[in-house]
Amino acid sequence: IRPIGIVGYGKYVPERILTNADMEKIVETNDEWIVSRTGIRERHIAAPEQATSDLAYEAAVQALKSAGMTAEDLELIIVATITPDTFFPSTACILQDKLGAKKAAAFDLSAACSGFVYGMATANGMLQTGMYNNALVIGADTLSRITDYTDRNTCVLFGDGAGAVVLGEVSEGRGFLSFDLGAEGSGGSLLKLEAGGSRLPASEETIQDKKHFIYMNGREVFKFAVRVMGTATEEVLRKAGKGKEDIDLFVPHQANIRIIQSAMQRLDLPEEKCVINVDKYANTSAASIPLALVEAAEEGRMKEGDTILLVGFGGGLTWGASVLVW
Ligand code: ACO
Repeated sequence: IRPIGIVGYGKYVPERILTNADMEKIVETNDEWIVSRTGIRERHIAAPEQATSDLAYEAAVQALKSAGMTAEDLELIIVATITPDTFFPSTACILQDKLGAKKAAAFDLSAACSGFVYGMATANGMLQTGMYNNALVIGADTLSRITDYTDRNTCVLFGDGAGAVVLGEVSEGRGFLSFDLGAEGSGGSLLKLEAGGSRLPASEETIQDKKHFIYMNGREVFKFAVRVMGTATEEVLRKAGKGKEDIDLFVPHQANIRIIQSAMQRLDLPEEKCVINVDKYANTSAASIPLALVEAAEEGRMKEGDTILLVGFGGGLTWGASVLVW
């Protein structure tokens, strides 16, 4: 099997920022509550004319540039998102057209906040077998479009963004060592967007009942997150033949600082080995892990040969973790 790794990366967040002070004007909340419970200080929100493919496009252009590739070279595009521009065509197909990636197969992948890791695992498998030689994997979400800004339990938590990587063949000893993906569909009702699908098509009633917005049982999702961040990181390290002491950089899903801290404790990791940007971007769903990874790369926080642990959890319920050598 040929070793596959990240050969290019890029990210994008919309310009407009909503601070906690702004949130105080929208719902009954306060900066102290939000910061102490979540670690979030601000979030970026898409402009009215921007949809998920627009955010993905900006990140993709950067990623291609950093890989030294043109869109015509691309063979596969996977967009992980739960906020596609439309049900169909897929966001990946819309993006394929925008980029002019004429040769590329393109599809969306739905695994909520775990989507980016699911997407990299999928592409990695297809590249390892030789089915394709390169892939653009993007985590992009515009959660502001499915957020109820009258619900203080959820609206303070989410932001918009996109992160992209180009995967390709790397030298021996580098690239992905292991993945651990999982699902717990029995917990699906804890975090959902109920209407608009084939079960409950859009109607006046679904709009009135706010069923086109995110519903979340925060406390139960919190417990799930703490549990699987622990079990998934142990499992993915075991599969990679690595121990906690081998981790040079930890890139967790950015949902809540307290969930990240509990994972750091379990891994005995000091803060300097952990990427935290939940304060600036809040929870951007599938974009969260690539935004953190790409920001760390841009800041020069990893060097060749470093062992990186990625882990995320989210709606489904799902989780996904990976160990890779940079
Ligand atoms: N401002 C002020 N008060 C608030 C706010 C707010 N924004 N939101 C909730 N409260 C209140 C609640 O009403 C509650 O009041 P009550 O006790 O009078 O009913 C009180 O604060 C405490 O609520 P808790 O649920 O105990 O707060 P908790 O400490 O659990 O924090 C939170 C809530 C931040 C949502 C947390 O549970 C959490 O982060 N859960 C995980 C969420 C997550 O990670 N989701 C990721 C997946 S997202 C995806 O896949 C798209």
